[in-house]
Amino acid sequence: MSAQGPNLAELEVQARDAVAAADSASALADVRASYLGRKGSVAGVLRTIGDLAPEERGRVGKQANEVKARIEALVSERKNALALREQDQSLSQHQLDVSLPGAGRPLGHLHPLTRVQRDLEDFFWGRGYSIEEGPEVETEYNNFDALNVPADHPARDMQDTFWLEDGHVLRTHTSPVQIRAMSEREPPFYLVAPGRVYRHDLSPRHSPMFAQVEGFAVDENLSFGDLKGLLFSFADHMMGADMELRLRSSFFPFTEPSAEIDFRCLLCRGDGCATCSQSGWIEWGGCGMIHPQVLRNCNIDPDRWQGFAFGMGLERAAMLRHGLPHIRLLYDGDLRVLEQF
Ligand code: DAH
Repeated sequence: MSAQGPNLAELEVQARDAVAAADSASALADVRASYLGRKGSVAGVLRTIGDLAPEERGRVGKQANEVKARIEALVSERKNALALREQDQSLSQHQLDVSLPGAGRPLGHLHPLTRVQRDLEDFFWGRGYSIEEGPEVETEYNNFDALNVPADHPARDMQDTFWLEDGHVLRTHTSPVQIRAMSEREPPFYLVAPGRVYRHDLSPRHSPMFAQVEGFAVDENLSFGDLKGLLFSFADHMMGADMELRLRSSFFPFTEPSAEIDFRCLLCRGDGCATCSQSGWIEWGGCGMIHPQVLRNCNIDPDRWQGFAFGMGLERAAMLRHGLPHIRLLYDGDLRVLEQF
């Protein structure tokens, strides 16, 4: 029965072809089972070993084990090759481009109004002004009376506001910070106070809540010229030097003389549009020399000290900077708008 020898050699040749032809991991597993499994061809040969002549048994057994080991090696080699091929295929299918940027977190930025406030603080801080704030819920006295606006004064109508049941008001302007600060300290002092104010007011330029900055200085020998120089360089800092400005005489109960400061409307370049009510100018704020009676109300002697004061809208500055036609765009929180700045 020496025919078992060539049988094994033939089996090995067949197995080599079958392994090479196996085109997937599962086909390869089947091939392996059919040659090396418990019921496979090589096991079949070993099972018949008892039929051989005793002197043949050892040789055939050894040959069978060697064939088994070689087929095992072929299978594992093929297994690796198939795995590599699969990896290549999936890479090419997914068209992986390792140079693509990762999925990063979008970076936020400061709101245009916050930037306006920080810019103005920068400007005044650099000129030796201290930066302070006052409460948004104010006494009627600080908001009106101490600023020369008694209960029957027509200026109160222009600043209709929200009253609390205990007689306090939501401050209509940042000017009451003047009263608080001046009553508490000795001149000379230079101060700005940005913050929120409230009025019963609604239009493309007005909102019931908006932000102002109050600025004032009390010293000896301060003049309207100092105020004008300061405001014009403040406007340059905020809007750029090519911004056209005008100072227009006006009236405020707490300043004498008083003026308003206007910007050329950037949206229409002065031709007139809805945002500037066809005037070509946008009011930025008011200013003037502090009224002697206001100084007296704060126990400051007007014969020795003079003061100037101004109050500006922060939204106006942001609107002009970015060409925003409506104040509400600053409060809607609409990212399509905010992401443009
Ligand atoms: N408080 C005024 C307002 O809100 C603005 C203002 C005008 C403030 C003149 C001032 C000033 O300090 O001097 O309409």
